[in-house]
Amino acid sequence: MAQQITVTEHLLLHQKQVPMATGRFTRLFNELILSAKIIQREVSKAGLVDVLGFTGDVNVQGEEVKKLDEFANRVLIHRLSRCGALCAMASEENADIIEIPDGLPTGDYFVIFDPLDGSSNIDANVSIGTIFSIYRRKSPSDTRLLASDYLQRGSDQVAAGYILYGSSCMMVFTTGDGVNGFTLDPSVGEFLLSHPNLRIPEQGNIYSVNEGYYHYWDKPTLDVLAHFKAVGMSRKKPCSLRYIGSLVSDFHRNLVYGGIFMYPSDNRDPSKPGGKLRLMCEAAPMAFIVEQAGGLATDGVRRILDIVPEHLHQRVPLFVGSRFDVEKVREIYTAAQ
Ligand code: AHG
Ligand code: MN
Ligand code: MN
Ligand code: MN
Repeated sequence: MAQQITVTEHLLLHQKQVPMATGRFTRLFNELILSAKIIQREVSKAGLVDVLGFTGDVNVQGEEVKKLDEFANRVLIHRLSRCGALCAMASEENADIIEIPDGLPTGDYFVIFDPLDGSSNIDANVSIGTIFSIYRRKSPSDTRLLASDYLQRGSDQVAAGYILYGSSCMMVFTTGDGVNGFTLDPSVGEFLLSHPNLRIPEQGNIYSVNEGYYHYWDKPTLDVLAHFKAVGMSRKKPCSLRYIGSLVSDFHRNLVYGGIFMYPSDNRDPSKPGGKLRLMCEAAPMAFIVEQAGGLATDGVRRILDIVPEHLHQRVPLFVGSRFDVEKVREIYTAAQ
């Protein structure tokens, strides 16, 4: 600990290199860090306190809300409202933009988050996460917020990251200058720099996809799957299939070991042609992180960071991970067009 950099120190050091930075960004980040610690505390007590199971509500995504989804959402909204750096925020769990209550200080940043990612894993004590994505509004601060202030393409993100509530609690993020990972030392309550300058291997040996849906896939998607089943054999050893069902955990493992995570579109529900994952609170932040670590993220063909969202909860197919693996997917889909 004596020699390790805390996440706050890292931010302050970084901020010196960004002349525009005002300190507001650090305040926003400090509230994210505090929220992460509060959520981690509750996650680690799951089973002892009443945070397991459903609330009985259905969210804007059409999903049954878990108690921990609601808890994490409440913590983030409460803490972030008070940081003085935000013009508004949005959450996977809320249909509309969340305004900053009157009387509280505001700023130019907009944050959108997935408060609790991997909800289906909560009750089984399997790793879950939180994802966040930060933008800066484009219109002047003293004018009314416009849709174009928050419906920005992923390449306009100022920062993006996730917190992984796993065997240890980690915070991984980028501000557009590489990716760093911090591990919570529970004895002092600080996130310490444990994974400086994370780089994803150019090629992986892991593919992550919910293969149970293969009945619903089109021919090119089946070809993509066939590729990952076969390709390992030409590399001496078959690829491993690893699928946790928590994007944060699947993504993090592939970032460290190399691999590709896929959530293709399918024809399960014609009203959701873009698959399940949300562009703004899931795909775009992961795409920013992976590109900063040397990887790629596409919807099969298009770069995720180039997509301009039409609405907050837009869904998008996602192929994210090691560069060569994501390029191969693009090759297969492009050939089929
Ligand atoms: P969330 O828990 O935030 O709704 O996200 C769940 C997502 C993502 O974490 C995961 O990769 C995916 O859903 C799993 O979906 P399937 O169960 O359809 O495979
Ligand atoms: Mn959900
Ligand atoms: Mn999620
Ligand atoms: Mn969620």
